[in-house]
Amino acid sequence: MKCRRCGAQAAIEVRRHNAAFCEGCFVHHVQESVSRAIRSHRMFGHRDRVLVAVSGGKDSLGLWDALLELGYQATGLYLGLGIGEYSDRSGQVTRDFAAGQGAELIEVDLRERYGYDIPTGGRKGSRSTCAVCGLSKRYVFNREAVDHGFDVVATGHNLDDEAATLLGNTLRWQTEYIARQFPVLPKREGMVRKVKPLYRLSELETAAYAFLRGIDYIVEECPLVAGNTQLKYKDAMNALEAGSPGTKAQFYLGFVDRGAELFRSEDTAELAPCEQCGQPTTGRFCAFCRARAQVLGERLGRPEGDVDDDAQTAGELSEEVLPVEMYGRALSRRGP
Ligand code: AMP
Ligand code: FES
Ligand code: ZN
Repeated sequence: MKCRRCGAQAAIEVRRHNAAFCEGCFVHHVQESVSRAIRSHRMFGHRDRVLVAVSGGKDSLGLWDALLELGYQATGLYLGLGIGEYSDRSGQVTRDFAAGQGAELIEVDLRERYGYDIPTGGRKGSRSTCAVCGLSKRYVFNREAVDHGFDVVATGHNLDDEAATLLGNTLRWQTEYIARQFPVLPKREGMVRKVKPLYRLSELETAAYAFLRGIDYIVEECPLVAGNTQLKYKDAMNALEAGSPGTKAQFYLGFVDRGAELFRSEDTAELAPCEQCGQPTTGRFCAFCRARAQVLGERLGRPEGDVDDDAQTAGELSEEVLPVEMYGRALSRRGP
């Protein structure tokens, strides 16, 4: 097979595009896909300061690499989740990458800054580990971006992640979440813009990119993620993809092109500052402050006429199974 771009012997086939590339042209193909995603959705420009959330995995390190290669002002943000050796090593590969590139990296340690780590958060609160984790990430990413004056937060969510999440949200008809599953979410009161420049690239493509770019990334999955619902949806999508190549892309990219618009009116929540921390929320206290108070055994003030916390927690739990929380918002729908 010949490289689609230069005609040399191809090394990598991208079945979805019915195309093959040599190594150099594959790297170009990935960077071009990122560049096109950024331009077509006006995610950010070369003058914007971009905060890239970097986990130490292939997607986010690959994204950071591509953004730097494309000449964007990209600073990394690493959140230490305190998940034993897994976190130690992911922090280390992220630091090494930053040092190798001479790029700026902001580090936040959840325990140092907020008093708990993810294993403790999962054990002590009423939320699942992944729910506390998603909530904490979403909160810290936005807060760091606001505090450091960044215009936008970029995450490494790829096509497989987004298709799996969309499948989960659709099976439950979580219309409010579906409305927010777009690769760019505009800035709103107290929230910076959120973007996913890898949304057109499959996990295989991002893995091949990281490999070809010589990026040292952490290969293993988080040890706490076993049995996670998202993984089941990924398996289901992969089974469909194996039978009909292109299904995954048609599903999510079709949503971006034609479906998302139909759900826009579902995104209606009004935001106001959390009375504890000032971050935007739909209730009196944001979901992060409520979760943290629960984990630390602290008590937040109660609004007048408040219903008991158990009812609220039960409501949240039913919605908290999906990592859509990265881009969800405070889970309570009650008014202030
Ligand atoms: P995940 O929630 O693990 O699927 O990760 C989705 C995206 O969130 C990654 O591509 C990163 O951009 C970001 N991310 C995940 N974990 C971290 C972390 N510990 N620190 C910073 N960013 C992270
Ligand atoms: Fe969040 Fe494992 S990375 S629970
Ligand atoms: Zn708060």
